[in-house]
Formats: sequence, C-alpha cells, structure tokens
Amino acid sequence: MKHSPKSLLVTGGAGFIGSNFVHYWFEQYPDGRIVVLDALTYAGNRANLAAVEGNSKFRFVHGNILNTTLVEQLLQDEQIDTIVHFAAESHVDRSIHGPDAFLKTNINGTHCLLKAVKKIWLDQGVENHRFHHVSTDEVYGTLEPDAAPFTENHQYLPNSPYAASKAGSDHIVRSYHHTYGLNTTTSNCSNNYGSYQFPEKLIPLVIANCLDGKALPVYGDGRQIRDWLYVDDHNRGIDLIIRNGCVGNIYNIGGNNEWTNINIVTLICELMDQHHPQGAPHKNLITHVKDRAGHDRRYAVDAGKITRELGYMPVETFESGIRKTIDWYLENEQWWRRVMDGSYQDWIEKNYVYNQQ
Ligand code: NAD
Ligand code: DAU
Repeated sequence: MKHSPKSLLVTGGAGFIGSNFVHYWFEQYPDGRIVVLDALTYAGNRANLAAVEGNSKFRFVHGNILNTTLVEQLLQDEQIDTIVHFAAESHVDRSIHGPDAFLKTNINGTHCLLKAVKKIWLDQGVENHRFHHVSTDEVYGTLEPDAAPFTENHQYLPNSPYAASKAGSDHIVRSYHHTYGLNTTTSNCSNNYGSYQFPEKLIPLVIANCLDGKALPVYGDGRQIRDWLYVDDHNRGIDLIIRNGCVGNIYNIGGNNEWTNINIVTLICELMDQHHPQGAPHKNLITHVKDRAGHDRRYAVDAGKITRELGYMPVETFESGIRKTIDWYLENEQWWRRVMDGSYQDWIEKNYVYNQQ
C-alpha cells in the first residue's frame, strides 16, 4: 500500500538520527511539513535543527511522548498523517546503570503515542495514516562469529535493558497493527554514525578524545563486532519504508559493513593522524578498560528484504562516510564541546573505570 506523507510528526527529532532525518526530509521534499516533538533530554539539542527553524513548514514542540493529550492535540491541529518515532533512551551503557528511564520512555512512551493515534486516527476513521517505529538490531541479541546475519525472522533475544525495552516497544507496535488495524511499519537498523551524534557513542567519543589527547576507552578485548551504517542511509531506508513498505511489516536496515571495535578505533586514529598531526600517533591513546556488562559480541544485519522489495541500497561507502563524519566533528567543535557539559562529565566518571587489562 503506497503512502504519500504530507504532514509528519517526528518524535525525538532533536536527537542524532531524528535531526538528520529532518534535514534529509526537507532536502528531498521541500514542500513537506514537519512537526518535531522532543523532550530535550541530555541527548536532544535544539541547535541540531537551527538550519530549519526559520522554515514556515517546520514547527518544534518541546514536549514528552508520554503526554498523550499533547500528542492527540498535535495530531488534530497539524493534521498529521505520518509519525516517525525516533524518541527513545538510546545508550546501552546508561541502560545498565539505570534501566527505569528506558522502560518508561521506550515502552510506556511508545504506548502513549499509540493510544493517541488510536483515538485520533482509528476511532475517527482516518484511513490515510502511517506509524513508523524506529527500532534496532539489538533486539535480536548477539551472533556467533560465523553465524548468518540477522533476518527479520530471527528470534527476539534482547540482552541489555536498552535492547529489552526496544523489543517491548516493537511488540506493542505489532499488537496495535494486529488488534486495531493501525498502519504500522518497523525498521530494525544497525549502528549509525554521522553528524550530530552525542559523544557518548563510540565513534564521536574517539574523535573528541583524540582532539583532546585523552584515553580512547576500548571495552574488554575490543574484538566485538558492529555493522556500521551512515545515518543518511538509515534515513533513506526509512523514507522508502514509509512510502512503499507493507503495513504490519518489519524491515531490517544495515550497512553490510562489519568492523571490530579495535579496528574501527585504530582506523579513526590513523585518519586523525592526518587531520591533527600534532597529536600523532593517536593510537598511543588506546586504553583497554573493563568490559560492558553483558556485552553483545557481534551484530550483523541482513538487509535483503528491503533491498529486494523496496530497492534499497546504501549510498555512502564506509570510507567516504567516516571521512565526512570526522570532518564534521572538526568543523563543529563548538557543538560537541557544548553538549559535553557538567552532567556529561559526571556520566563519564561513572561509566569508565580506567583499569588497564
Ligand atoms: P538519541 O539519544 O540521539 O536521541 C533521542 C532523542 O529522543 C533526543 O532528542 C531526546 O531528547 C528525545 N527523547 C528522549 N525521551 C523522550 C521523550 N520521553 N519524549 C520526547 N522525546 C524524547 O538517539 P538516536 O541515536 O538518534 O536514536 C534514535 C532512535 O533510533 C532510537 O529509537 C534508537 O533506539 C534507534 N536506533 C539508533 C541507532 C544508533 O546507532 N544510534 C541504531 C538503530 C536504531
Ligand atoms: O546496533 C544498534 C545500536 O547501536 C543502537 O540501537 C543504539 O542506540 C546505539 O547506541 C548503538 O549501540 P552500541 O552499544 O553498539 O553503540 P556504542 O557506540 O555505545 O558502542 C559501540 C561498540 O563500541 C560496542 O561494542 C561498545 C564499544 N565501546 C563503546 C564505547 C562508548 C567501547 O569499546 N568503548 C566505548 O567507550
């Protein structure tokens, strides 16, 4: 069933992927309308949307997805026909230290949104609607070194409180399609990288620490594997799913781009040697620290379904994407220094125990 979105509600649109989505969307569809709903947690930053603030087709609403009444009002007032749901607590390490916020936002928050859309779209007979839920490959758990990548039929085996909360939200979305007939789609994507990513995540953390001559913390032996995808390629996949995807379906999105953490950190060090020679060789900063509790060894995504059914192909190579990303952090030093405020520094102290292994 084809869908032509006209008025979008983007939850979590001031975060990493959400803000990139807003920029992507206006570039592709300058006539589209976007309302961003974001609670501006530590991970949300209104400055990420500065370039579109003056656009009459854009509106920012500072609010919480748990506020069903607010969401109902926005759906009605703005005649929203499409929700792209990014809002979440997204950092695995934080979920280990404090799972409550993850269950509250990711499970209850998603349910509050669904209750609002049921009331405004389904109970009032609005047929032209789409609820796209942005999820993660982490719901599938961990892979053995030689196992085939995750397909959409892989069993759900979430291991961290973050992954479990995302799995819970996926199931609730599924149930609203099956029980109430809501037009839902879900995407389960691998690790993203690119501009506006909060420097608590591996790639921006390593770039920022290289510039500051700080230790580059590698958890455990650093042989864990992730499948990296440039953020715009994720958003391109979401765009295809919203327009052409089958309602009630799940689509995996991935980069076919597996890297061990130690290799990715070493690569960034080599690139930083070129950009910031005064700190070279940056690989001397690599420090093996205590491993993440319950650390998943390997993620890899089989994106065959979205490729076959919707013609999806990532545009960015890893080489071009990582260079663009490093350039962005070099050019936007003020951005990442501002987001790394006092509360972020407290978090870093809590999370990292720099005991050499
Ligand atoms: P992020 O942490 O950078 O941004 C999350 C945004 O949600 C922030 O702007 C925050 O203020 C907002 N938010 C949090 N709680 C909210 C609430 N209760 N109400 C309204 N807004 C709230 O996250 P991200 O990395 O951009 O991830 C976005 C989505 O994509 C998440 O659902 C995540 O699970 C999923 N995902 C992320 C990746 C990745 O590699 N980053 C990969 C696959 C899927
Ligand atoms: O797979 C998709 C997921 O990718 C998303 O659902 C999550 O929202 C997103 O945060 C990301 O989760 P990861 O835990 O894989 O990302 P992170 O950047 O935190 O870590 C990447 C890998 O690097 C992981 O194996 C842990 C390791 N790591 C991370 C940090 C922050 C380190 O070795 N040192 C670090 O300091």
